[in-house]
Amino acid sequence: DLTFVGSEEPLVLGIVDEFKKAGLKIFGPNKTAAQLEGSKSFAKSILKEANVPTAAFSIVRSLSEARRALVKHDFPVVFKLDGLAAGKGVSVISSCKQAEDYIVNLYKNNSNTKLLIEEFMQGPEFSLFSLVGKNNTVVHTPIAQDHKRRFDGDKGPNTGGMGAYSPVAQISFAIIEKVIKSIVEPVLKVMQDKGNPFTGVLYTGLMLTKSGPKVIEFNVRFGDPEAQVVLPQLKGDFYQMIINLMDGRKPLIEWQKKKFIWLL
Ligand code: AMP
Ligand code: GLY
Repeated sequence: DLTFVGSEEPLVLGIVDEFKKAGLKIFGPNKTAAQLEGSKSFAKSILKEANVPTAAFSIVRSLSEARRALVKHDFPVVFKLDGLAAGKGVSVISSCKQAEDYIVNLYKNNSNTKLLIEEFMQGPEFSLFSLVGKNNTVVHTPIAQDHKRRFDGDKGPNTGGMGAYSPVAQISFAIIEKVIKSIVEPVLKVMQDKGNPFTGVLYTGLMLTKSGPKVIEFNVRFGDPEAQVVLPQLKGDFYQMIINLMDGRKPLIEWQKKKFIWLL
């Protein structure tokens, strides 16, 4: 009766468009809207248009462009490859030498690879999941915190996610409201105004910096493993909630309100 897509690759390849053509019911973004996850440069352009706070950035496609752009950034900087990378396309670069080695290696075959060079942000990270249906009807879930780096003490490289918990008591409700009003809603509005309304799960990855919450990235699905700590908090019927959203009816949804829950 309904297909709910779990992972990013089929979404970015356009499974929603194909299912709709075949008259099958499916919840998720179409191929263009899935670019919010599939292309970091697309996501940045939407963030800019929506006037949403995110790390300062440059997009480059060659060694000389990368060298020129690096002059404008302080170290550490963050390098991100443009396409899907299963959480492994991000490198924090702490010195000029490390940056030079990275870009020389990246462009050694005169490849045309798009590289995003980003300001390094600091602060606690958290994620908000917004289930978006017809006409931007939205349900927001409790927020979660993901732990991406390998090894004790966050000493290792980034992974797709080592573990997660939810809710995140140290992030106040006022901050979550600010994220909804000044980040999620403007992004959904820009997508709609461009004739490409977003439907599906919009996962906003955020950092609470000294100057307020800023977007790190978008995913267009529930996170793995975040789904496992967020979804058990739903009181009610998941299927019915999705069907209501798809019909543009705001479902009355309740989430558990304790500061923590045990999953046994
Ligand atoms: P992403 O794949 O964009 O979610 O990045 C993976 C992880 O890299 C994030 O969860 C952050 O921990 C880190 N990261 C990404 N962008 C930045 C940034 N601009 N500043 C600091 N850390 C970042
Ligand atoms: N845990 C982060 C992700 O699923 O991308």
